Amino acid sequence: MTIGIEPLHPLYAARLTGVDIRQPIDESTMTEVRAALATYAVCVIGHDQPPTNEEHIAFSARLGPLERGESPKIKGTEVRLPYPEIVDQSNLNDVGEIYADDDRRLAYKRANRLWHTDMSFYEVRATYSLLVGHITPPSGAETEFTDMRAVWEALPQARKAGLEDLIVEHSYWYSRVQGGGPEPTEEERVTRPPARHGLVHLHAPSGRKALYLASHASDIVGMPREEARALISDLMDFAVQPQFVYAHKWRQGDVLIWDNLATMHRATPFDDRNFVRDMRRTTCREKAMETADSLIA
Ligand SMILES: [Fe+2]
Repeated sequence: MTIGIEPLHPLYAARLTGVDIRQPIDESTMTEVRAALATYAVCVIGHDQPPTNEEHIAFSARLGPLERGESPKIKGTEVRLPYPEIVDQSNLNDVGEIYADDDRRLAYKRANRLWHTDMSFYEVRATYSLLVGHITPPSGAETEFTDMRAVWEALPQARKAGLEDLIVEHSYWYSRVQGGGPEPTEEERVTRPPARHGLVHLHAPSGRKALYLASHASDIVGMPREEARALISDLMDFAVQPQFVYAHKWRQGDVLIWDNLATMHRATPFDDRNFVRDMRRTTCREKAMETADSLIA
């Protein structure tokens, strides 16, 4: 055993010590990291200095095939972080300034404050997300989690009845509108069709069943919409009760890894007009994609 594991919550989440993603990591240590992730679902590795983008990408690639976004295509547009594997989760524009209040991208980022799993609106789901804290604001901006395996196990038997057969539709547009964004045009809507996933699935790394839900969950196949949304909302409320929630207080240099197939998460508010929060994310997927999906939330 070369890594240390310090649990952060009674049900899941742990700090891993004795591992530094800025250094070469041998395969037996990676096996321990993967085993810790299978058990704890949310793991944090602290560093004195944030890893570079290259170190972040190289470590992430050892946990699975990486999501690659498209390069910007509109002439004259730039991105702050020109790495197809890295999603810029900061409140900074392409020249490193805090977004203007009316910037649509800021409104979009605030939609991350709804409970969700990353990219559930894709057929090929996200497995691990790895978020690196480069600059953290003095207060607020915790990332909150819930463990959907523990949630499933805690659901009363009577409420579990029939749930395992249900198929849920996850739509990018649904959560965007829920988060305060405009209704998409029909033209926009067809570019991002919904994806379907079982409401309950077996989380292979731990061998435990888990609910799979997100703010993107819009419908249940074969169920009237009103009934479906009431059921989704009821299960979401059950899942985010305080006893299931771990809130991560960020330190600069933290690498926070979570398993999207076992958890939900949300961002919490901070003074995003006055303080910089520079967070960068990579995402692993269930299988390698030949083309970039490019739209990540
Ligand atoms: Fe997210």
